[in-house]
Amino acid sequence: MGARVRIRVPGDKSLSQRALILSVLGRGTSRLKGLLCSGDTESTLRALRGLGVRVPNIPRDGSEVLINGVGLEGLKTPVNVLDLGNSGTGARLLLGMLAGSNLSATIDGDASLRMRPMARVMEPLELMGARFKLLGEVDRLPVTVHGCSQLKPLEWSSPVASGQIKSSLLLAGLTGSARTVLTEPMKSRDHTERMLNAVGADVIGRETDDGWRVEMPHPPDEIGPLDFTVPGDISSAAFVLTLVALGGGGTEVTIQSVGLNRTRTAFLDVLSRMGVHIEVHDRTPEGSIEPLGDLVVRPGGLRGTSVGAVEVPCLIDELPLVAVLGACAEGETKITGARELRAKESDRILAVTENLRALGVVVEELDDGLIVQGVPGRKLSGRVSAFDDHRIAMSFSVLARATGGSVDVADAGVSDVSFPGFDQLIQKLTEQVG
Ligand code: S3P
Repeated sequence: MGARVRIRVPGDKSLSQRALILSVLGRGTSRLKGLLCSGDTESTLRALRGLGVRVPNIPRDGSEVLINGVGLEGLKTPVNVLDLGNSGTGARLLLGMLAGSNLSATIDGDASLRMRPMARVMEPLELMGARFKLLGEVDRLPVTVHGCSQLKPLEWSSPVASGQIKSSLLLAGLTGSARTVLTEPMKSRDHTERMLNAVGADVIGRETDDGWRVEMPHPPDEIGPLDFTVPGDISSAAFVLTLVALGGGGTEVTIQSVGLNRTRTAFLDVLSRMGVHIEVHDRTPEGSIEPLGDLVVRPGGLRGTSVGAVEVPCLIDELPLVAVLGACAEGETKITGARELRAKESDRILAVTENLRALGVVVEELDDGLIVQGVPGRKLSGRVSAFDDHRIAMSFSVLARATGGSVDVADAGVSDVSFPGFDQLIQKLTEQVG
């Protein structure tokens, strides 16, 4: 038996963003622990401050933060542009929240966020009665939102399964007191629904012939404070799982207190199919808003697999890692039904294809995915790019560390967007398990 290591990963990004927003909109004092302190959550925090809310800094050690909410009608017109930096979740969720608020605000972001589609939320929000003035290109930030605290009810069918679209519309329904119904082709992450239910805004979800339908039938006049401990981010844990899976040897790593929401865990199923040994120990406290537990991982002989549309929403952020694992697995690894990857912080289908090719891996780029020809145990060498995208940077940093070749990741420093301390943790783990 080789090394046995126990670690934690930083708090979940999606949950931290939502917890900040709902705490601000609540009445009373919310208590949040384990919040992620990273580029994206700090962008959302700054924007909330721009809307007149006093929010303390996010501690780096996950210790408790108290937030005194201003209520659903307490936001103030900002003096400055709200700069959401790199955060697509922050931008889209705030567009929804502001659509139902009696104020005008301009939202902008960095060069990458300015390339990302926003009509997917602006179109339904306009139907609810919000108005948008585009200050740049069609479908893109910057944009000024003119909100209205009494929106019209919405029944919307989203062509993509997206936690961001769903959350944006539910937040608009909440602040704008409008019944909101959304159908998506598959169930996307349901963190917003769970948190809304916890603070007294009932949201009902059910399967239908068209996919997954959520409804907030009676938005309340106010919501209560949130008492929540954010579990570790399974999307960050995924980098550690991949490092161990690629590293081989007799290593066993336990990642403690990771979020285990079923809409986020498909990567664990994929790893098992590929031959990695994964144990899940549920440690969900009674009454917890989100399930959580420990993950134990040991390497196994990697074999290729297929990931299709049904699984994609539940591992959307982990797909670059599936491709990276595929490069070192026996046989072919195929990802389809993942066109959404082209609309992330970079075009992740293109980024992964180009990077793997730069290392000599045979990859076929598809419109909605890719096919990777794996070669187990090979040493990969070459120079790849981060494409200004934190998850691409981290995926290839893991590959670089694990394969024993010499992979050089240009501009790898963008991991702070979601995973502060990534380099140190991966360095330490490589030493411990190597
Ligand atoms: C997120 C949802 C996903 C994911 C993103 C975070 C969220 O995007 O890729 O990193 O917090 O709701 P989509 O909902 O657009 O798929």
